[in-house]
Amino acid sequence: MVSTSTQIAGFAFDNCLMNAAGVACMTKEELAEVKDSAAGTFVTKTATLDFRQGNPEPRYQDVPLGSINSMGLPNNGLDYYLDYLLELQESEPNRTFFLSLVGMSPEETHTILKKVQASDFKGITELNLSCPNVPGKPQIAYDFETTEKILSEVFAYFKKPLGIKLPPYFDIVHFDQAAAIFNKYPLEFVNCVNSIGNGLYIEDESVVIRPKNGFGGIGGQYIKPTALANVHAFYQRLKPEIQIIGTGGVLTGRDAFEHILCGASMVQVGTTLHKEGVAAFERITAELKVIMEEKGYESLEDFRGKLKYIEE
Ligand code: DHB
Repeated sequence: MVSTSTQIAGFAFDNCLMNAAGVACMTKEELAEVKDSAAGTFVTKTATLDFRQGNPEPRYQDVPLGSINSMGLPNNGLDYYLDYLLELQESEPNRTFFLSLVGMSPEETHTILKKVQASDFKGITELNLSCPNVPGKPQIAYDFETTEKILSEVFAYFKKPLGIKLPPYFDIVHFDQAAAIFNKYPLEFVNCVNSIGNGLYIEDESVVIRPKNGFGGIGGQYIKPTALANVHAFYQRLKPEIQIIGTGGVLTGRDAFEHILCGASMVQVGTTLHKEGVAAFERITAELKVIMEEKGYESLEDFRGKLKYIEE
């Protein structure tokens, strides 16, 4: 009777766990594997307008406490993902999937979003404002002026359900400033967090990935406290219509439980999915259900956002 079902943007999902964009989502075959696992849904690899080869390999490395990557936005281009999602709308009309996208420039972002708006796509769009790995292109959401300009322009024509993928913030003033901007727009969700950008992992005397002399986005156990802080900071600040997707450091059911306690309505799995494969969804779901049973919780609503503080 314990359920991990959830809703995002008014769409129902039978499980709150899904992949994080970038992992197990480059090809239709990988997406189908996530779709047919215990995950509630999938999100595509962040699509640009055209196919991209990405950065030179090696560009992703699993390490003991997480992962480091500098993929450089390799992807099959918008049409590849959009065509697959339109096929699934016919074959699986009762399920909803996420399309992740961003342009290589604000102009390209608008071109892509206008194509999605004009298409028959009925799912959820995630605009990625946080890719840290394309040389010369800063993480958009660290530039509040550009972020606000993009959002104001986007919502002039984009009328489908839209959320944004955010980088981690590390300052209370930045949480305040970012939330004040997001609260001006009809966003369905914010997804906290993308990798902690531009870390460096060293083995013996060398970096472990080729691009950018080894600098890359950090995921896994390293980032859970930062991810939870971002989920909860935005849960406290955003208007209730904007939901939170929690991403970062989810290895176990306990980790997913903590994300939900901080306010997440959906929980994404990246590094652990890369290490363990789609079996991770069944395991983490079972672990989450055991915790809920022990605590007498029947649904996520029973504890979502109910993080306890230490009284004065
Ligand atoms: C890539 C990495 C990211 O963290 C992201 O949000 C988008 C793309 C990449 O390197 O491919």
